[in-house]
Amino acid sequence: MSNAASSTSDAALPLIAKSNSDKSNSDPSDADKSGVDNEAAAGGDPMPRHVAIIMDGNGRWAAARGLPRVEGHRRGVEALRKTVRAARELGISVLTIYSFSSENWSRPASEIRDLLSLLRRFVRNDLAELHRSNVRVRIIGERDDLAADIRALLQEAEDLTRDNDGLTLVVAFNYGARQEIARAARRLAEEVAAGRLESAAITPELLGRHLDAPDLPDPDVIIRTSGEQRLSNFLLWQSAYSELVFVPVNWPDFDRAALQGAIAEYQRRERRFGGLIAKTGS
Ligand code: FPP
Repeated sequence: MSNAASSTSDAALPLIAKSNSDKSNSDPSDADKSGVDNEAAAGGDPMPRHVAIIMDGNGRWAAARGLPRVEGHRRGVEALRKTVRAARELGISVLTIYSFSSENWSRPASEIRDLLSLLRRFVRNDLAELHRSNVRVRIIGERDDLAADIRALLQEAEDLTRDNDGLTLVVAFNYGARQEIARAARRLAEEVAAGRLESAAITPELLGRHLDAPDLPDPDVIIRTSGEQRLSNFLLWQSAYSELVFVPVNWPDFDRAALQGAIAEYQRRERRFGGLIAKTGS
């Protein structure tokens, strides 16, 4: 299912376009401080509040060009920059990206090293710009078994951006949904064992409050690139009523237009949440 769409040559794109929400040039008299592309956001159909993305197809993008897989991942980081910028401009509140799964450890050691060093570089190079753009970074996934320097970088990203109230960028790193649900169950079991909780009080809502980012809304739409059609252990609990949109381009070719196309597909769906009312984006 490889997609051989032509590559773009914007390797030097800055992470985030300057916008009037940038802290560096903020002026309290500006009419619109949000940085949101109001024209795009003002369309009749509601924007999803929370978009989650399975960024798939880096390896196939590279293979189609006779390049090493790491080149696909590098281009994947550029696609991520464009997508974060577009999400901000479209007025999306939460963007969750699947950047490294619990199962990715089974890849060859050299590819794991490449992915970890891309994450290090992403945080080191792009964090200041994300912060200036009022992006709040959150991390979900298991941190305990990560190298100390990666744990420190992830913590730094969260700490620095904690008070930002623009786009929330949730990075799923060393993340697996079954593992997340098991962690939540373990926390509840500890409460029961300590006598602080009756097992009969465990409801879906209570379990949901013990997940990694319980305060965030469930994703309205989960986008997967590369044409593959499965969730691969991503947000299994939170996706109970998410719309799934599968896009036939490999992740390095994903951009603002592809994001808008996926959102338009979401907006055509009828969301019923098990009931009878047909409405998207509610
Ligand atoms: C899937 O492509 C992608 C990944 C396993 C990792 C996604 C990572 C990035 C986009 C870059 C790193 C991100 C950060 C935040 C540093 P694949 O390798 O499974 O592609 P394939 O299915 O075509 O082989």
